[in-house]
Amino acid sequence: MHISELETPAVAIDVDILERNLATMAAYVQEHGFGLRPHTKTHKIEAIARMQLRHGSMGLTVAKSEEAVVMAHAGCTDILVAYPVYGPAKWERLAHLARDRRITVAVDSLLPAEGLAGEAVRAGSTIGLLVEFDVGMHRCGVPNAEAALALAQQITRLPGVEMRGLMYYPGHIWDRPEAQAPALAHVEAQLAAVLDALRRAGISAPIVSGGSTPTARNSHLVQGTTEIRPGTYVFNDRNTLGVGACAPEDIAVRVLATVVSASVPGRAIIDSGSKTLTTDRWISGNDQGFGSIDGYPDVAVVGLSEEHGHLDVSRSANTPRAGERVAVVPNHVCPCINLHDRVYFHSQGEVLGSWEVDARGRIR
Ligand SMILES: Cc1ncc(COP(=O)(O)O)c(C=O)c1O
Repeated sequence: MHISELETPAVAIDVDILERNLATMAAYVQEHGFGLRPHTKTHKIEAIARMQLRHGSMGLTVAKSEEAVVMAHAGCTDILVAYPVYGPAKWERLAHLARDRRITVAVDSLLPAEGLAGEAVRAGSTIGLLVEFDVGMHRCGVPNAEAALALAQQITRLPGVEMRGLMYYPGHIWDRPEAQAPALAHVEAQLAAVLDALRRAGISAPIVSGGSTPTARNSHLVQGTTEIRPGTYVFNDRNTLGVGACAPEDIAVRVLATVVSASVPGRAIIDSGSKTLTTDRWISGNDQGFGSIDGYPDVAVVGLSEEHGHLDVSRSANTPRAGERVAVVPNHVCPCINLHDRVYFHSQGEVLGSWEVDARGRIR
């Protein structure tokens, strides 16, 4: 079957581009001698997780404890939960997983460290902890070296857990790759202060986990990093393209849609709205539109209802007709995939199969 025969809306993944993206990132980390632990929140698919492990990833990253269960089921034996884990059910879930695989969790306060420690002792397992350090995103993470050291010292006194190092997330850096050096130098300086404080206190930090897709291939500019966690790089999207971290031919994902109305001049409507594409913005571009359409550079996705994508075709010389199928590059692929039960993978347009989005909705 050709992708043009798939019922729409449908997510189509070009498996050749996907494989190339995995190989390129694997080659980059190998060249610079650090580890790759991709963030699987982008795809949430066991088969792709296994492809990443085959492509030399040392383990996988997840955000949520339920995602860790899915990735353990996929066969991963070394999982980082890069998210503060609050609540006994989650601590128990992870302590249980840690019985026969390596589980590491990032924390920025004592409470989840104590919770995880208690459950690990009960389960007879050991959970590794990373102190999350805020390098500029201002989301999670302790704010300075003193706080990082204080938390690391408290962790070393807990039973059931093991202080394994630091985590940072340079998710605030959206400069083009060739202009990222100053921002990454600032990250490096902050990190050096934390590593220095730990060293003076005799606390070892064998893991220093960083990375994002926009900065991925500049990760070597942050000295001290031992592994990176890019996620979006598997598929890329309009935001990755906009920041210049990929080329158009590196985008492996399309949302296939059908024009369901073209009755008004200047306007067309597709069968993909916010429940298909998400309302995430084009943060690396001019913030206009909810995706781009292959072959129609002057057609803008100007609005989304739940099930309708509103196209402004007034500036385009050629306009899609009712019934025509179009391929949309989503602004932000990660939440988009999470809206779909299943995605289809193809090689040169020939559908090879489909993957269930295994961790879809695993948000606990
Ligand atoms: C903590 C953390 N690490 C890594 C990533 C992966 O970054 P990217 O989506 O740029 O690949 C994310 C993405 O949200 C994240 O939140």
